[in-house]
Amino acid sequence: MDCAVVGVAFYMVRIGGVRQKMAIATQIVPMERIMSENVFQHLKTLEAQGLEQIEAVNTLEELTQLNKQLLGKKGDIQATMKAIKTLPKAEKPKLGAAVNQAKQTLQAAFDAKNARLQALREQQAIAEHRVDLSLPGRSHRRGGEHILRTVQREIEDVFVKMGFRIALGPQIEDDFYNFEALNFPADHPARDMQDTLLVEDGSVLRTHTSPVQIRTMLSYPPPIRIIAPGAVYRRDDDVTHSPLFHQVEGLHVDRNLSLAHLKGILQHFAHELFSPSTPIRLRPSFFPFTEPSVEVDIGCIFCDNSGCRLCKQTGWIEILGAGMVDPNVFRECGIDPEVWSGWAFGIGIERVAMLKHRISDIRLFFESDLRFLGQFGLG
Ligand code: DAH
Repeated sequence: MDCAVVGVAFYMVRIGGVRQKMAIATQIVPMERIMSENVFQHLKTLEAQGLEQIEAVNTLEELTQLNKQLLGKKGDIQATMKAIKTLPKAEKPKLGAAVNQAKQTLQAAFDAKNARLQALREQQAIAEHRVDLSLPGRSHRRGGEHILRTVQREIEDVFVKMGFRIALGPQIEDDFYNFEALNFPADHPARDMQDTLLVEDGSVLRTHTSPVQIRTMLSYPPPIRIIAPGAVYRRDDDVTHSPLFHQVEGLHVDRNLSLAHLKGILQHFAHELFSPSTPIRLRPSFFPFTEPSVEVDIGCIFCDNSGCRLCKQTGWIEILGAGMVDPNVFRECGIDPEVWSGWAFGIGIERVAMLKHRISDIRLFFESDLRFLGQFGLG
């Protein structure tokens, strides 16, 4: 049985010549009796101490711990109920009421403290994660248009302003569109595997944008005015040739067109794309799909037409192939060559870009080296 000392007497003794105070217990009573006598007082003490403890607590974790210790099922307040069996019958309900009262008072103190600690924790979190609005923002590197795309757009713009529409075709082509309908004889060297990249099913990667001429003429009746930009492929790889490169095709079909129209348009084109003083000249050439065919030179833009290393002292630089649409091509597309006439051209975008920006190696366009690309306006 738990007991408590409630009475003490003191007396002096001499032990080994030294006077000492001794205490003896004069009254020892069972704990239960103390509790029954003082349980109401005890409860008051617990409550007062509890309020002080709550006040002293600094963290939510300590508060939870204290709550359990005081108000838990096995906590100090509840423990006072053990004294109920020692109380006279009339006193028993009073203890229950007093315990409830103490619990309520303490719980209210807990709630208030909890709210304060929560608020404090939030404030700390806000302080910790404070956003410094005066810091400069993180910048992103600005992207830019690829120089080939820019040049393509410049070429397109010249023709779109003259009423040409943009037409597109597939990069994987049938032999029919890429060669046959364009009047390539079966044994033409351009069909050779040396040049053409074949696809497993017998299709080819288009070797030029000219098949878009065929697709357009088979789909729309004349008059036709289109340009067709896009990627083309050939088995070729050196400083001026890439297995993938880009062309812009031009096609104009109408009544009574002549080489003079072609020359006039291309002269305008050279003025717009290079400089208002850039001359052009036409030289006889051969393409299966045009008759007559020409190769078009521009006056060398490096020496102003006077002769330098880059134009091999000729004063001229070849820039594109062109010609009058061959009657066989018209017939292949169901267009009557007696009624309709047309001219066409094909120009290499890389070649124009290399001339305009004095780039000596075509492979630079495809290496994605930002030091190269950045020269043309990458942020
Ligand atoms: N397709 C030719 C090539 O890739 C370029 C060309 C020449 C296109 C004459 C034409 C043209 O439309 O009339 O080399």
